[in-house]
Amino acid sequence: MNIELMRKLTQANGIGGCEDEVRDIIAEELKPLTSGLRTDAMGNLIGTIEGTGGPTVVVTAHMDEIGFIVRFIEESGYVRLQPVGGFDPRTLVAQRVAVHTRKHGVLNGTLMPGVKPIHLLGPNDKKELDLQDFFVDLGIKADDVKDQVQIGDMVTMRREFEEMGDMVVSKCLDDRIGCYVMIEAIKAVGKVNATVIPVAAVQEEVGLRGATTAGYGVQPDITIALDTTIAGDIPGMPTDAAVTKLGNGAAIKVFDSSQLPNRKLIAHLQEIAEQNDIPFQLEVLPRGGTDAGAFQRAAAGSFTCTVSIPSRYVHSVNEMCAKSDIQACVDLVAQFLREAGTRDYGYGIG
Ligand code: CO
Ligand code: ZN
Repeated sequence: MNIELMRKLTQANGIGGCEDEVRDIIAEELKPLTSGLRTDAMGNLIGTIEGTGGPTVVVTAHMDEIGFIVRFIEESGYVRLQPVGGFDPRTLVAQRVAVHTRKHGVLNGTLMPGVKPIHLLGPNDKKELDLQDFFVDLGIKADDVKDQVQIGDMVTMRREFEEMGDMVVSKCLDDRIGCYVMIEAIKAVGKVNATVIPVAAVQEEVGLRGATTAGYGVQPDITIALDTTIAGDIPGMPTDAAVTKLGNGAAIKVFDSSQLPNRKLIAHLQEIAEQNDIPFQLEVLPRGGTDAGAFQRAAAGSFTCTVSIPSRYVHSVNEMCAKSDIQACVDLVAQFLREAGTRDYGYGIG
């Protein structure tokens, strides 16, 4: 496995609308593999691998990570934040962040909630945290903060990539590990009948926005989205709510709140996995969606499904994926791209 590429992708920083660093890395990888590499008005990165007359197939992963922008700078120099994407405040206490200033480089800071420390907490003081409670301390004088930081500057979580046992752990495996699977599947695929269009999408975490314009722009016949999903095989989780388990293989999406995937496409992916001994699990995610949901409904629609990489602790800085699941996703997607065009997923009548 290309561990260094995983490290590079996860250590790059890019919230919705600021995906430049990630786009540059993926463009460098896709350039030798595709023709006509381009960006659209939203910043989606789109390439083409010409086929020999088959359907047009998009394989897509999102580049953006959840993060913040600077919302307000206090007189005292503390920085207040606007979340860009869905954070659970319980995962944010005592983290470290990077403030990416426009003119003064990257400033490191601590992320803490502005609530009474435990030593001073009375019996009636509030104990639950809200996202609005958090602030950044940059460790520099208030005047320097006001001089160097601007409203709108990007703020990202800091946490290094690490191999841990059979797993990898990092910030924003959601969805840089999907970007990794997209790149590696395309490297592995070889000759294709279908025209394959890799799309590195922007702004997924704020509501599948990049995928919407990419869907209208490309209008593919078939779309496979790659994203992480909940692996709920942890303490405190009822077994029937686990969604997926780490190490049980690539997850083939059956349901999420953004799409009901095409049933024939689900069946095809399952058959490919079974015939090629690729470990897989079927996934029902009660809440949350993926970019396939946007592609499915763009213009006149496309046949969609999502291949998910199971992840523990999604939307925390300790997102954890199994190396074997990541490889299973690469193998499944590569084989699907080789076979794309051999089946009809339509609802033909008569
Ligand atoms: Co996410
Ligand atoms: Zn994601």
